[in-house]
Amino acid sequence: MRQLFLSSVVAATGLVAAGQNAFAADAPTSAVSPADAMNIARKNACMGCHAVDRKLVGPSFQQIAEKYKGDAKAPARLEGKVRDGGSGVWGMLPMPSHRSMDSGDIKKVVGWILAGSPAK
Ligand code: HEC
Repeated sequence: MRQLFLSSVVAATGLVAAGQNAFAADAPTSAVSPADAMNIARKNACMGCHAVDRKLVGPSFQQIAEKYKGDAKAPARLEGKVRDGGSGVWGMLPMPSHRSMDSGDIKKVVGWILAGSPAK
């Protein structure tokens, strides 16, 4: 009986996880490894203007995570900002648009930034 109970708990948890993945569509941020996210940021030249822990041309990724902590709308807003570019939130300097960047990659890198840019 106990065994049966445990296995149905495991099955239910599996269903919940599957549901979340379906909801997050193509790129569940939880499945992104920090190394992958960092590679995406490097490959797309984000690191030419951003660093994890200090301001360069743009704000540091840690400053960004701090500013949007607890903001449920931040992922969508920042994904749009990376794709379309813009200015005025951190100062006068604009961030260029990244319209040819893969939307799954944008989602991954924004999710990683908002998670505090863990090194691993
Ligand atoms: C040419 C320099 C440059 C590049 C390249 C660049 N950024 Fe930015 N980024 C900026 C600047 C400047 C800002 C501040 C914009 C503002 O004040 O609204 C910024 C802001 C941001 C923000 C915060 C936006 C907000 O509204 O708070 C995020 C997130 C971000 N960048 C991510 C990225 C990612 C991911 C990439 C690579 C795909 C990237 N940036 C490439 C210069 C750059």
